[in-house]
Amino acid sequence: MAASQNPHDDIESVLITEAAIDARVRELGAEIGAAYTGNDSLILVSVLKGAIVFVADLMRAIPGNVQIDLMEVSSYDGGKSTESSGTVRILKDLSGTIEGRDVLIVEDIIDTGITLNYLTNYLAGKNPRSVKIVTLLSKPARRVVDIPVQWMGFEIPDKFVVGYGLDFGEQYRNLRYVGVLKPSMYTSTPGEE
Ligand code: IMP
Ligand code: MG
Repeated sequence: MAASQNPHDDIESVLITEAAIDARVRELGAEIGAAYTGNDSLILVSVLKGAIVFVADLMRAIPGNVQIDLMEVSSYDGGKSTESSGTVRILKDLSGTIEGRDVLIVEDIIDTGITLNYLTNYLAGKNPRSVKIVTLLSKPARRVVDIPVQWMGFEIPDKFVVGYGLDFGEQYRNLRYVGVLKPSMYTSTPGEE
């Protein structure tokens, strides 16, 4: 089903409010800043496109020096699927080197863990000093690969969510909250595409 004129109409319920996200991102920024105190080698590697909103807020919540680089990976077959395909492709690689750097991967959500498992191994192969992970959301019920996550914003139930960067069919990234998408948006009805 196509997105409504008003994207809020396609949301079943607000799971995490704008205020709750804001407060949690500030906490994470402070904790991460403290963990890397006095360290000028921190580089946030953010994963396009879903994590752009989170990384923009998070980097400004970190008090110390911080740089960013951006990668884009795809773990979906494309189109409007709500299930990972299980294969990860790099669509955009790092712009610079991470050798000797403290890398913090910034993700929007860990679902099966396949994407982050792949990324962690890929980045670890480039001789960084350390590789850690911060994710805004985690769906523990769906985990297939168990990977250590150092910082997490919120644990959420096994529902497909959008907003604050997360999309369905490239829509809804601009919502300021995280909401549960109405299942009617992705369960096809007879006679409809
Ligand atoms: P994983 O490889 O299964 O952990 O999938 C991670 C990626 O799947 C995330 O970076 C998102 O792009 C996407 N994803 C997983 N769950 C959701 C969701 O509920 N809403 C939107 N995107 C999701
Ligand atoms: Mg993503």
